[in-house]
Amino acid sequence: MDDVTTARALHIVGVVLWIGGVGFVTTVLLPAVRRMKDPQERVSFFERIEGRFAWQARATTLLVGASGFYLVAAWGLWSRFQSVAYWWMHAMVLVWTVFTVMLFIAEPLFLHRWFVVKAQENPERIFRLIERLHWFLLVISMLTILGAVAGSHGM
Ligand code: HEM
Repeated sequence: MDDVTTARALHIVGVVLWIGGVGFVTTVLLPAVRRMKDPQERVSFFERIEGRFAWQARATTLLVGASGFYLVAAWGLWSRFQSVAYWWMHAMVLVWTVFTVMLFIAEPLFLHRWFVVKAQENPERIFRLIERLHWFLLVISMLTILGAVAGSHGM
């Protein structure tokens, strides 16, 4: 297996573990927390559990970003970013940037604290916000995966 094939394989393994985890959190964990916990307990309980996934998401974000940029550089694909037909290349970088900002800057610096403080004022509203945010991230990620697979296989 050459370097580029290895990078492509690692790219996909990273995407599966990362976005698969987002799918699990959104469609299984959050609904379970909603059913099992009182509104006041939901946010802190969820934040405690998701903290473990956040580390996995950080590691896979780094892997996907590094392997993705390696592929762009190795194949000389920079000009794709000038073409609308390659919207899925922009989408990959955009999704990656959104997650990178959330996981490496917003979450550790202020978002985690903000959720916990605001949840004391209005737990239902903050939990709904967390649910919507996860659905938003899952939907843009799935659309990006659809576009990237179809686009890179000639559609
Ligand atoms: C820094 C961010 C990223 C860069 C630079 C990047 C770059 C690339 C490149 C160059 C390819 C190969 C394209 C080709 O074969 O023509 C690719 C494939 C792919 N990427 Fe990314 N990517 C990034 C992030 C993401 C993210 C966040 C996702 C998922 C949400 C993703 C999912 C995919 C998928 C599914 C493929 C198609 C693989 C295949 O079917 O062979 N990438 N990426």
